[in-house]
Amino acid sequence: MTETPPVTALADDTAYAEAVQLAVDSSAAYYADGTSTLDDDAYDRLVRGIQAYEEEHPESVLPSSPTGKVAGGAVVGDVPHTVPMLSLDNVFGAEQLADWAAGVERRLGRPVTVWSVEPKLDGLAISARYRHGRLAQLVTRGDGTAGEDVSHAIGTVVGLPERLADAVTVELRGEVMMTTSQFEEACAKRQAHDGTTFANPRSAAAGTLRAQDRPYVCELTFFGYGALPAPGDESDLAVRLRELPHSEVMEWVAAQGVQTTAATPVAGIVAEALDQVQSRVEEIAAARPALPFGIDGIVIKCDLASDQAAAGFSSRAPRWAVAYKLPATEKITKLLDVTWNTGRTGVIAPRAVLEPVELDGSIVTYATLHNVADITRRGLMLGDSVTVYKAGDVIPRVEAPVVHLRTGEERPIPIPEVCPTCGDAIDRSQERWRCVRGRECQAIVSIIYAVGRDTLDIEGLAENRIRQMLATGLIADFADLFFLTREQLLGLERMGQTSTDNLLAAISQAKTRPLSRVFAALGVRGTGRSMSRRIARHFATMDAVRAADAEAIQQVEGIGPEKAPVVVEELAELAPLIDKLVRAGVNMTEPGATPPTDDPKAAEAEGLPLASMSVVVTGTMTGPLAALTRNEVNELIERAGGKSSSSVSAKTSMLVAGEKAGSKRAKAETLGVRIVSPEEFAEQVSAFL
Ligand code: IVH
Repeated sequence: MTETPPVTALADDTAYAEAVQLAVDSSAAYYADGTSTLDDDAYDRLVRGIQAYEEEHPESVLPSSPTGKVAGGAVVGDVPHTVPMLSLDNVFGAEQLADWAAGVERRLGRPVTVWSVEPKLDGLAISARYRHGRLAQLVTRGDGTAGEDVSHAIGTVVGLPERLADAVTVELRGEVMMTTSQFEEACAKRQAHDGTTFANPRSAAAGTLRAQDRPYVCELTFFGYGALPAPGDESDLAVRLRELPHSEVMEWVAAQGVQTTAATPVAGIVAEALDQVQSRVEEIAAARPALPFGIDGIVIKCDLASDQAAAGFSSRAPRWAVAYKLPATEKITKLLDVTWNTGRTGVIAPRAVLEPVELDGSIVTYATLHNVADITRRGLMLGDSVTVYKAGDVIPRVEAPVVHLRTGEERPIPIPEVCPTCGDAIDRSQERWRCVRGRECQAIVSIIYAVGRDTLDIEGLAENRIRQMLATGLIADFADLFFLTREQLLGLERMGQTSTDNLLAAISQAKTRPLSRVFAALGVRGTGRSMSRRIARHFATMDAVRAADAEAIQQVEGIGPEKAPVVVEELAELAPLIDKLVRAGVNMTEPGATPPTDDPKAAEAEGLPLASMSVVVTGTMTGPLAALTRNEVNELIERAGGKSSSSVSAKTSMLVAGEKAGSKRAKAETLGVRIVSPEEFAEQVSAFL
């Protein structure tokens, strides 16, 4: 019995171009280091789909198609490159980088004069040929010796102007990619067009760059990383470009009006010593999760033309540059299920259950799907192969289904009709669906959070007691706790005189907590404990926080234009709860903080011991700090004028390392960050303990 193997059905030239890119990428990754995101079965299915499409549309066959290669008649792009577009060798860590650099220096017979360190942009290499200042031709990398003409994309690539500042003839090289917002927009356009989306920004950029007759136009972004004069060109500019250091060539490129990474948080820099290179590598890696575009590593180059010439090339890659690869932030896995949960604020959120996959150092099993509109927009189905993204501390998210990998077995995702927690109706008036009972639906979760040790710290108020109070109608939110009477508490089952008095005393004590904790207790979306502390220190009083508009809220470090309006909106919604807390006499000020109109350097002027210092705490605390939670130690740092941070970088001023301090201590040692014991630290900040 023979079974017809499943084939990926490709709808149009765009889907085909994307499928080819996916196959090429995954086989390249597979042959390079065996890390392909596609399993053999998925790869075969994909290639069969590509083959089927090519049989139907022979006029659309792309030179890079893997089928062409199998047939032996590999056609490459028909535009020869003036100078080959090479690859880069990879290193995977500080040690390998040091070995590589030592190899370069051996070859030079002397130290490298200056290094250049810049992000490795995760897109497609392109050559942009300018003649007399006008953009004349765009050519893809192809096989490195010749590529495809994609000049039809001229005019759709942000950062690649049609005219340079000067009427010069030059070839610029760089990366074409999609920013996160361009990717979202492209997905929405394609969804409206044929009900599908792109798998990830990279393949969206690849498909978009190569697709010619698409009824919709998607914007791309270019970042330049090099400029070359034509071989044989001996003009002044050509000679200068050959002689200038790479960093100065890039300054010239930017001055021509072309986008470089100079204006981004991961701008290229020059470094004289290898430890500076390594610190920049770490800074770029740390900045990665918040970047509005994808990077997959850091490129380290010899900056001087003379050093580059001395190092030379291998047939595959320059010997004067290397790619320091960062762990993958995106992989393909299976969407097994979708579960629905009502959160603290009553928002009903879908969560993806995934076939476990390793991403950026951890195993990802769950990912956020945001909301129903998002599921629909992305056209997701149960059983889909999906791209999942995770970097740093961000919550993993499902990016899109990989439509070419569908088998026909996928099923629609069931959407809830009623609140999954309480069974009441759903308010669908906004994209974020909510239980009509709002915060009340999950009041228990909010109250447990509000009275916890790191928020109001009401000792002895256990979960079952809160449940009992909710069930008997004594409280509906945590502010009601402050109005409880002795009689009401004594009336509860299993509540004796002593427990009642203790609880009343603990509740009364909680009224004196600093604003940072009261604010954290509110459970404003997107503001955890450390953000609440920053808000409280910035505004000093609840009145000032409530008076702030989105712009004023954005002055707080870490609150961007997306989060700010959410905070304002949530505070408006929480107004009755806050008013109730005020009526109860709960403290609404932050001790030691001054309102925003004051001099921001006040902390330094006051001479606080940790003024302008960034402090990281790791390991088990001993001595006077032993009894404190990590949150309390962080509060202490901030009271003493410092900034608490969770990761060690070149910017860290001090590491408080307790027992069993692991990788953070090692990193601080490498970076030369000052390390102190919990006891030494306690002494420094004893006035604030
Ligand atoms: S320099 C001679 N700089 O990485 C090769 N490449 O793996 C010089 N890439 O094909 C390339 N960011 O598409 C260079 N800042 C950067 C880069 C970069 C991304 C890409 C480029 C190249 C690939 C090599």
